[in-house]
Amino acid sequence: MGTLLRRVLLSLALLAAAAAPGAAAAAARLSTSYYSRSCPRAEQIVSDVVAAKQQANPSTAAGTLRLFFHDCFVSGCDASVLVSPLSSDRTPERAAEINLSLPGDAFDAVARAKAALEAACPGTVSCADILALAARDLVGILGGPRFPVPLGRRDARRSDARDVEGNLPRTNMSARAMTVLFARKGITPQEMVALAGAHTVGFSHCSEFAHRVYNYKGKGGGASGHDPSLNPEFARALQSSCAGYESNPDISIFNDIVTPREFDELYFKNLPRGLGLLASDAALWEYPPTKVFVQQYADNRTAFFQDFAKAMQKLGTVGVKTGRQGVVRRQCDILD
Ligand code: HEM
Ligand SMILES: *[C@@H]1O[C@H](CO)[C@@H](O)[C@H](O)[C@H]1NC(C)=O
Ligand SMILES: *[C@@H]1O[C@H](CO)[C@@H](O)[C@H](O)[C@H]1NC(C)=O
Ligand SMILES: *[C@@H]1O[C@H](CO)[C@@H](O)[C@H](O)[C@H]1NC(C)=O
Repeated sequence: MGTLLRRVLLSLALLAAAAAPGAAAAAARLSTSYYSRSCPRAEQIVSDVVAAKQQANPSTAAGTLRLFFHDCFVSGCDASVLVSPLSSDRTPERAAEINLSLPGDAFDAVARAKAALEAACPGTVSCADILALAARDLVGILGGPRFPVPLGRRDARRSDARDVEGNLPRTNMSARAMTVLFARKGITPQEMVALAGAHTVGFSHCSEFAHRVYNYKGKGGGASGHDPSLNPEFARALQSSCAGYESNPDISIFNDIVTPREFDELYFKNLPRGLGLLASDAALWEYPPTKVFVQQYADNRTAFFQDFAKAMQKLGTVGVKTGRQGVVRRQCDILD
C-alpha cells in the first residue's frame, strides 16, 4: 500500500472516530437481552413475521435492508423513516424520499411485526428495533451472515423531510465524497465498502443509471454512447432493457446481475468486470482507498460476511436514542 493511500485511510479513520461523539455511549446502552423480561419472544416474533412476508413477497428482504440504512443515516436509527406522510402535519422524511422509491413491502413487513408484538407485549418493542432485527433476519434468509443485534433503541418523536438532504449518498457522488459522508456517521471506508455489498441483492430503477447507458456525457463516451467503464455487452443489454424507461418508470434491473437473489460476494466480483450497475458502485473500484477492500471481499466471502456483520452492527448504533430521548411508538407509521 502506498504511503499516500495509507495517509488518506488514516485521516478518514480519524474523521470517523471524531464523528458522532454520543454514538458510542448510546451503543453501550444497547443490549441483546434488552427485552428478555419484558418481551422474551420479541426476536422470534419478528423473525417469524418477516420470514412469512419474504416468502410471500421476495422483494421484501432487499427493500428492508435499504430502509434500515436510510433510517439510520437520516437522524439516526429511530424509525423516523417509517412515518407516513398521511399521518403527520409536518412533512416527514419519507416525503423527501418519495422519488427514491422506498419499497412498500418493507414498510409492510415492519408494520406486521409491530402488530404481532403489540398483541404479545403492548407498548414494549420499538419500531427502530424491529427494523434492525428485520434487516438482520432477512439478510440471513438470503444466505448472508447471521449476527446478534443489540436492542433498546427508542423511536423518534419527529420525522422531518428537511433532515434528509445531505445525509444519504447519491449515485452521482464520488467515492471520496461518499467516504466523507460515511465518516460523518462514524463509518470507516472499509466498513462503507462492506455495507455497499448490500447491493448484492435487490434492484435499481433505470433512471438511477440511465446517464451511464444512453448518450453518456463523461470521458470516453464516444460512439458506443455508454460509460466506457461498463462491460460493453452489459451496457448494450441495459440499453435494450431500459428502452422507454421514461414512460415506464417502473423498469428495474438487478443490482447483482449474476446472482440477484443471493446474498454473496458476487457484487464485488462484478465491479472489476464492469458489471457494477450504479455509478457509485463502479466508483468504489476506481478509488484506491476503497478499491483495496473491493478486491479483498471479491476474493474472500468469509472476510466480507464477517465485516458486513460488524458494519451492520455499527450502522445500527448510528444516532440511536435511548431512555427518555425517544419513545416506543404504538404504530410505526404514526407519531404519538
Ligand atoms: C454507498 C452509497 C450508496 C448509494 C449511492 C446507494 C444508492 C442506491 C440506489 C440509487 C438504489 C436503487 C433504488 C431504486 O431505484 O429503487 C439502491 C438500492 C439498494 N440499496 Fe443502496 N446505496 C448505497 C449504499 C447502500 C447501503 C450502505 C445499503 C445497506 C446496507 C444499501 C442497500 C440497498 C439495497 C438492499 C438496495 C435494493 C433495494 C430494493 O431492491 O428494493 N445501499 N441503492
Ligand atoms: C420528485 O420528482 C418529480 C418529477 O421528477 C419532481 O417534480 C419533484 O420535485 C420531486 N420531489 C422531490 C421531493 O424531490
Ligand atoms: C447529484 O444529483 C443531485 C440531484 O439528484 C444534485 O442535486 C447534485 O448537485 C448532484 N451532485 C453532483 C456532484 O453532481
Ligand atoms: C479470508 O478472510 C478470513 C477472515 O478475515 C481469514 O481468516 C482468511 O484467512 C481469509 N482467507 C484467505 C484465503 O485469505
